[in-house]
Amino acid sequence: MHLTKKEEKMCQGEYGETIRKSMEILVALGDIYEAEKLVNITSAQVSGVSYKTIGDAGLEYLEDLAQDPQARTKIPSTLNPAGVDLDQWEELGFSPEFTKRQKRIVEAYGKMDVMTTCTCTPYLIGNVPLQGSHIAWSESSAVAYGNSVLGAKTNREGGPGALAAAICGKTPAYGYHLQENRKASMVVEVDCELKGADYSALGYLVGQEVGDGIPYFKMSNRPLVDNLKGMGAALASSGAVALYHIENITPEYQNAAPEDTNDKITVVREEIQEVREKLSTSSKKADLICLGCPHASLDEIRDIAETLHGKKLKNKLWLCTSINMKAAAERMGYTKMIEQAGGKLVCDTCMVVSPIEELGFEVIGVDSAKAANYVPSMCGLEVVFDDFKNLIVEK
Ligand code: F3S
Repeated sequence: MHLTKKEEKMCQGEYGETIRKSMEILVALGDIYEAEKLVNITSAQVSGVSYKTIGDAGLEYLEDLAQDPQARTKIPSTLNPAGVDLDQWEELGFSPEFTKRQKRIVEAYGKMDVMTTCTCTPYLIGNVPLQGSHIAWSESSAVAYGNSVLGAKTNREGGPGALAAAICGKTPAYGYHLQENRKASMVVEVDCELKGADYSALGYLVGQEVGDGIPYFKMSNRPLVDNLKGMGAALASSGAVALYHIENITPEYQNAAPEDTNDKITVVREEIQEVREKLSTSSKKADLICLGCPHASLDEIRDIAETLHGKKLKNKLWLCTSINMKAAAERMGYTKMIEQAGGKLVCDTCMVVSPIEELGFEVIGVDSAKAANYVPSMCGLEVVFDDFKNLIVEK
């Protein structure tokens, strides 16, 4: 890989040990994927935050790293969700032991100048790269959104790779950073009307078909950005999709359709319905409804608040979002509406990366195919997948 003189000095330790080690990670990645050079990045999004997933080894590694004054991010960087709501952990039932360790992880990242907003929707809270810019994001749903909806360029980074990129302000130029790798591999004709959780079910279905390829959707529906947020998360979890195009909608669709028109599938209503049914592992009613996968936007919070208006819930409800959205929701009165119905706006965490399995719930109700995919495997709990209004049980 070609390195500039400054990059060589960074590799040789002239800028300190942390930068040397970070460059070692980036150069090793570049060599594996045959990158010709490093590119400067404008944004990073770092995963590897929940104590549930990184444990004591991850905590100690981050605390050691944060002690070095050179271990500071060079560009705007945000954090993925943590394992607890950092403010409301006690009332939600999370243990003090877990929370103590979780807070140490978040503090270590904070010392390194990573913004400790702990969300998988960084693009809703100001970490918004320009079209065409190179970035290093690691949350798979955010990667799909960043590449496809914003038109930025990122691979599916691992946590250490994204942190190394944030510290050096660079990433190896391979994969989705190269324009020639951003063309679609399969056309997906959507031959039915979509609404609500259908988008997420569609993403799940197509992710299974396309794997780590790039789907090019043709649909008569005009999706909202929140629909794309959910669809991308599902594409990235049932497959390994990092980029998709939608004809006449996403920024890079022109010239992105595959040349081989035989690579085509058609999705009909029955298939969406089948996926919706298959994603539920229980026929029981959910005792906890968990929404906000990916973390909810203010529009989604408003819709849920309005649906709940005047109702009293029998099931518990967590609506997961960022602390920024929660602040706006409080000012708009949405938090109060949700709390009056018995629900809670939960920040910093989600149904998958928190130790939700320790809180005594059996069946989790979700409207996200990504959450439906991971709750059984990562939390060992049953799941019901449906539109929010169908998950509600009133007192
Ligand atoms: Fe975000 Fe958790 Fe879903 S990280 S995309 S809310 S599984």
